[in-house]
Amino acid sequence: MVTVRTTAPPPPFRRVLQDGTRVLFRAILPSDEPILRKGLRQLSYASRYGRFHSGRSRLSSAELRYLTNVDYRDHMAWLAFDVTGRAPEGLAVGRYVRLEDEPKLAEVAITVCDGRQGCGLGTLLFDALARVALRNGIDAFRAYVLAGNDAALRLARRFGAVASSGGDQRLRLDAKLRRALLGAAESAAPGRSWPAAFPAGALPTLKQM
Ligand SMILES: CC(C)(COP(=O)(O)OP(=O)(O)OC[C@H]1O[C@@H](n2cnc3c(N)ncnc32)[C@H](O)[C@@H]1OP(=O)(O)O)[C@@H](O)C(=O)NCCC(=O)NCCS
Repeated sequence: MVTVRTTAPPPPFRRVLQDGTRVLFRAILPSDEPILRKGLRQLSYASRYGRFHSGRSRLSSAELRYLTNVDYRDHMAWLAFDVTGRAPEGLAVGRYVRLEDEPKLAEVAITVCDGRQGCGLGTLLFDALARVALRNGIDAFRAYVLAGNDAALRLARRFGAVASSGGDQRLRLDAKLRRALLGAAESAAPGRSWPAAFPAGALPTLKQM
């Protein structure tokens, strides 16, 4: 079994979207495998294609383990939950993975569930990932995006990404992470945080919410 040496996960934070949805962002946990599995199953073909560049609807056990056992430094993932109602609902996941041969660069991927795209979640996740990355010595993000993926292209552009050919139908997007650009999330989704329900550093699981 592969053991991942973790650092402390960044503390959760909260935002209110323009439509009033209360969103809790927290770092991913090994116990989140079912959430990822369910989320992928519910994702439309178009969104799956946008994320994986294929229509895959299942992840293997090994892939799920890899995606949920992160060290919060070289591999970091945030989950976003709608906590407006009584039962929290998974909305989105965003992650970065540091490149082994270019340690100041990380590949980033974000997936927002279909009904909640275009509400600012992608922008908030990019911003939150960038903040953790910068603290860990990563100063640029790279993403491979299909040429027709307007939402992803606009999101990347908001953070100053430059596009080059990534082969096939793909574009390679490179964004320098400058602190000055962070905060773009606030203008995209001018949400405010609401009073902390969890003490800083606490890592609520779904049951606790
Ligand atoms: C790409 C994705 C992550 C963007 O997240 P999002 O929460 O929908 O995006 P946001 O609401 O933060 O908006 C980001 C930008 O995209 C634009 N946008 C959002 N949805 C759009 C759509 N359907 N068509 C065109 N532009 C769109 C927004 O207007 C915004 O642009 P602006 O800053 O110029 O105003 C999301 O659409 C998604 O999960 N898609 C499926 C998976 C995928 O393709 N992932 C990308 C691979 S890394």
